[in-house]
Formats: sequence, C-alpha cells, structure tokens
Amino acid sequence: MAINTNLKPGPIGVFDSGYGGLTILSEIKELMPQYDYIYLGDNARAPYGNKSYDLICDFTLQAVKWFFAQGCQLVIIACNTASAKALRRLQQQYLPTIDPHKRLLGVIRPTAIAIASLSKNGHVAVLGTEATIKSKLYEEEMNNLHPHLKLTSEACPMWVPLVENLEYDKPGADYFVKQHLTKILEKDNKIDTIILGCTHYPLLLKKIKQYIPDNITVISQGKYIAESLKDYMNRHPEMDSICSKNGKRLYYTTDSAEKFKDIASAFLKETIEVEKIKLGKDDELV
Ligand code: DGL
Repeated sequence: MAINTNLKPGPIGVFDSGYGGLTILSEIKELMPQYDYIYLGDNARAPYGNKSYDLICDFTLQAVKWFFAQGCQLVIIACNTASAKALRRLQQQYLPTIDPHKRLLGVIRPTAIAIASLSKNGHVAVLGTEATIKSKLYEEEMNNLHPHLKLTSEACPMWVPLVENLEYDKPGADYFVKQHLTKILEKDNKIDTIILGCTHYPLLLKKIKQYIPDNITVISQGKYIAESLKDYMNRHPEMDSICSKNGKRLYYTTDSAEKFKDIASAFLKETIEVEKIKLGKDDELV
C-alpha cells in the first residue's frame, strides 16, 4: 500500500528489551544524524530472551503502540528476540488493523543479507538468546538468501543478564563467554565469522575476542542495520518524507530513569536525559 504523504512527520522509534538496542541506535544516528529518534528500553521486563512467544509478542505490541502514540511512523525493533518472535505477527496481524501506513522493521533480515559478504569460507556462526536461536529465523533467512553457507548457532542465555547487570567487563563474565565460544567451535571448527545476533552482545566483544582464534571475525549488527535503514529510506522516499529531521533524540525506559541514564552512557559514550514510562497491560493480542 502506498504511504499517505499528508501524514504528520514523526521521529524514528528504536525499541529493545533493555540497553542492547543502543548499540544499534548509536550506529544509526552516526550514519543518519539528521533524523529524530525515540529510544525505548523495556528494562523493567528484560530479559525477553527466556520468555514465551506470547509474552514477547504482547510486550512488543505494547511498545509499538506506545511509539505510535508518540507520533512515530517507523519503528525499528532493535532486538533480535522481539524481531524473531513478534515482528512477523505484528506486521501481518496488527499493523493492517491499526494503521497500514506505519512501518515496523527488524534486525534479522538485514543481518542475514550482510552475512554473505563477510565470510570467506562460508562457515558462519550466530550467537543469540534462547528465544532467537530456538525460533530458527536466522536459519530460515539464510536458507532463503544464501543456501550455500553453513550456519551454526548457539544460545547464550547468561550473556544478556551479564550486560544488563554491568558485569560484561568483570572477571565473572569470562566463564560464560568461554563456555559458549568453546561449544560453537566444537560444533564447527571451520567457522571464520561469528555474528553477534543479540544487540546486547557487542558489549562483550573484548572478552569474546580473548576466547577465539585470531582468524575468526566477530560481527556486531549495528553498522549493517544502519546501512540497511539508509538504503530503505532511499528506496522509500514516501516514508523518508514522514520521518522528522531535527536531530533530536529522546530516551525512555520502563525502569529507573537514573539507572538507565548511568548505564546508557557506557553504550552511547555521551550523557543523555531519560524519562520513565509505563507500558499498558491491556493490549494483548487475541
Ligand atoms: N537485545 C536483545 C536481542 O537482541 C536481548 C534480548 C533479551 O532481552 O533477552 O535479542
């Protein structure tokens, strides 16, 4: 459906269960600084990665409704878990009923598209939350896009809590980081590219590099999501025209604003203002 260009321009929404989506936002705003962005972290209910399909869908729907109420025409689900579990359902069932002009974009397809150009020998690994890995969406996208690649995956359920609790650079993190990297290399010892399929994981990059051979490249998604969004805007001038461009950024969380402000600076390397909001519980999908 063509987008009605008489719609009021609004900021681009960026959503994650917590802080992880900030690794995506920082790349997006660097590449496209002219746009306005609203970030929401559902920190009060993170992590999403060990939650059920219905719960992840309900939480994501509540967040998307909130973004639309703020005037966003386009929302990036900057969370692999919500992209894997909720995006398709919301795009197909929810969006057409509420406002067919609005758009939701996820992070898995753009990452899967980028993978082919990154691996030299075609042996690729993806690390993610339990929900993302169990969804097999990376496999599905890769089979469609690059059937010649061998994809091996591994769920790392402790990694998001390590990041959310600011333990990512502490000695305690080493055990869990090493454990999953050892496992994935046992599954395929020819892997030359590891995709961090969770937006929290780039914070663990330094430790990850300690436990893999030098010839393996570790890929964070942010750069690819930003490039893909830029390409999307070029291909969809009707959407570009309803995304406001005053270089404004607003940050919201469902948990403590003070805590978010402190931790977010580690991700963004800048000081920000944060507001706490509540997400409704009465919007469940039927
Ligand atoms: N950043 C989310 C992702 O990319 C983390 C999910 C979680 O809350 O467990 O999957």
